[in-house]
Amino acid sequence: MPVSFTQHSLGALIERRLFTFLETWRNPVSDPDVEAAYELLGDFILRGGKRIRPQLCYWGWRGAGGDDCDEIISAAAALELCHAGLLIHDDIMDGSELRRGRATVHKGLAGLHEGPGADAFGQAGGILLGTLSLAWSDTLLSSCGVEPRRLRAAHHLFDAMRTEVISGQYLDVLAQIRSGASVAEALTVIRFKTAKYTVERPLQIGGALAGASMELLESYSDFGLPLGEAFQLRDDVLGTFGSSAETGKSALDDLREGKHTVLFAHATHNASPAQLQHLRRWHGDPELSEERAADLRQVLRDTGALAKVEEMISERVHEAVTALDKAPIEPAAASALAVLADQLAHRTK
Ligand code: IPE
Ligand code: IPE
Ligand code: MG
Ligand code: MG
Repeated sequence: MPVSFTQHSLGALIERRLFTFLETWRNPVSDPDVEAAYELLGDFILRGGKRIRPQLCYWGWRGAGGDDCDEIISAAAALELCHAGLLIHDDIMDGSELRRGRATVHKGLAGLHEGPGADAFGQAGGILLGTLSLAWSDTLLSSCGVEPRRLRAAHHLFDAMRTEVISGQYLDVLAQIRSGASVAEALTVIRFKTAKYTVERPLQIGGALAGASMELLESYSDFGLPLGEAFQLRDDVLGTFGSSAETGKSALDDLREGKHTVLFAHATHNASPAQLQHLRRWHGDPELSEERAADLRQVLRDTGALAKVEEMISERVHEAVTALDKAPIEPAAASALAVLADQLAHRTK
């Protein structure tokens, strides 16, 4: 192992660890269709993700004084398996067809079969493969090889993380069945469904594995929560205004699904009666055309909602960076996290 991983080689090490893990846990059933499903899952896990959570886990470890070693790569890779499972389920729940520039896992599975049952089969298969990836994340973290006391502390944070993200996803789907969400409610959803599992907990898990002090774990939270919220707010902006060529996701999903994002909550709060009527008429239309989507985007701009969300992103990045400045953290990790903070808030994919 090199003494210090660059971001590029860190990504390559995570990839390699995921690959060797998947080699160990091959399809136990002799059936070509089960084999095809395993291949599809393996492809999804290995290709195209930004590996944000593993990177944060690694820097959480380094920030607490951990050295480069195989153990932290395994733990970091475990978070990517958890994320993959969550994404597979999320795409079923959100009715999304595109992810990482390719068919979502449930769509890919449906495409392997023909006939009227193919879509239902794809969804059932996606639930299973997502669950498998989630289960594997536990397997990999539990066997990462860090000494038992520290692993127990980290696993406890991992348990909390899984409970939080699933509760957040539950809140997200609840907002769809309720009559909507205020800005404050939409912010609670993104804290639980994204901020914790994307930034706060991965940092803390890495830190706990290296024996971080309580004070450092709290600093990771002070840095991670606002940054994680900024990350999801950026995701909402990209999900509506971004180019699908860059994001690898459709820019119509949130509008067609009528997602109660913070962006949309601001728009309804500030809309004139005519604008409100327009939003109510078209937001959530599953057949929404590109032209109508462009009109909706214009309302999001005209109500000031887009500018407001950009302002909220800046405020949160500022809050995160201020917390990082005060954190009792190793300097190399502090610099890497400052760079990551900027990337997460200003990404284009
Ligand atoms: C997407 O996360 C899901 C959210 C929480 C917004 P990422 O943007 O990290 O997805 P990948 O792994 O890079 O595809
Ligand atoms: C994803 O939220 C959150 C989780 C996967 C837990 P979204 O549904 O808003 O994210 P994208 O835009 O599909 O990636
Ligand atoms: Mg989604
Ligand atoms: Mg979702």
